Amino acid sequence: MEAFDVRLFCPRCRRVEEDGTFVQAPLVLVGGEGPATVSDLPDGDGVLRCTDAGCRAEYPVLDGVGILFRDPGAVDLAANPPFDPLALSLEVLQGLVAGQPFDRGLAALVGRLGRLAWAAFQDWFPASLRTMASERPVHGVEVMEWISSVAPPHRGGKGVRAVMGAGFGREAWEAAGPTVLVDAHLPTLLALGRLLRQGYLDLLLPWTAASWKPVRLELPRPPAEPVRLVCCDLVAPPFGADAFQEVVATNLLDSVHDPVNTFAQLHAMTAPGGSLTITTPFAWKSDVTPRAHWIESLVPGAAGNPETAFETLASSLTPPLEIVARRTFRWTAWHTAREITLYGCSGWYLRKQAPAS
Ligand SMILES: C[S@@+](CC[C@H](N)C(=O)[O-])C[C@H]1O[C@@H](n2cnc3c(N)ncnc32)[C@H](O)[C@@H]1O
Repeated sequence: MEAFDVRLFCPRCRRVEEDGTFVQAPLVLVGGEGPATVSDLPDGDGVLRCTDAGCRAEYPVLDGVGILFRDPGAVDLAANPPFDPLALSLEVLQGLVAGQPFDRGLAALVGRLGRLAWAAFQDWFPASLRTMASERPVHGVEVMEWISSVAPPHRGGKGVRAVMGAGFGREAWEAAGPTVLVDAHLPTLLALGRLLRQGYLDLLLPWTAASWKPVRLELPRPPAEPVRLVCCDLVAPPFGADAFQEVVATNLLDSVHDPVNTFAQLHAMTAPGGSLTITTPFAWKSDVTPRAHWIESLVPGAAGNPETAFETLASSLTPPLEIVARRTFRWTAWHTAREITLYGCSGWYLRKQAPAS
């Protein structure tokens, strides 16, 4: 399948030399032929290997999810384990998490999956579980509708779209064209892979402070076009420069350690003339993003305003990002049936300028 003609590179080898040269080493699929692309990710398990003779790093593919961390040793396997707990029967899972606080261990993991699934698919949850918050549009749907209203030419699948920090990646169901869903959280991508294969997912939603609600999420339809899953840290993504015609990152920038670096990586992966769409509430949490990394603290002249700082950064990148459209969104995040947070997000549709010919 040629739909994903996007090369995969070794995250460990990517670096910028002193003279400014960007160095990257292609990966090959062990047992495959030639440099690996996203299309070569096997449906099941496999291994990708770096072609640099001094490196030869190997990266696993698990159930179709490419796992490509620069420093696998830095991945906290307790918080980011290589399994999908939702593959257990709900009766067993409920028994295991019963009585556990929502913020620790397996309960935290299961709760995170339930909340992310709600964020992406709340309109497809059983009607009995809809709450006042469900009257709001689903963020991934609203964002993709906005993109197609401001930039109709991107509809019709010119080039590959990447959704970065995708969670359950509702965007893939809402637009034409092949989509790569990228996230650092492996259990989310493993559960998402199962949802894509089987069309439904059983999950637990934190309900009261001490109880869970079992939910069967049934998809009314599959995504219109192929979807691939890549697990990586966007600090060192396994993609080359200019890899994607369209990059979308919703509610990512304030979920990372270093938002300015992440923004620069998103810009680098966007093809010249392509689009980068970002939404974020800039709701910083200092345990996730140290105060020194909040973008309004870093950009001189921003006067503490994150939107001003963001736009200054966008225009200072090379080549610059042009603001094509800007709007605000409301995004709801589930905690329990008694606590749903409403975020005010700023959204930008940016175009990366093509070099003058
Ligand atoms: C707040 S959630 C947003 C999910 C989805 N985009 C939405 O709007 O509902 C942020 C997502 O970014 C992912 N993430 C955080 N840091 C990341 C990183 N350094 N690299 C890749 N993904 C990351 C998290 O695992 C999580 O799924």
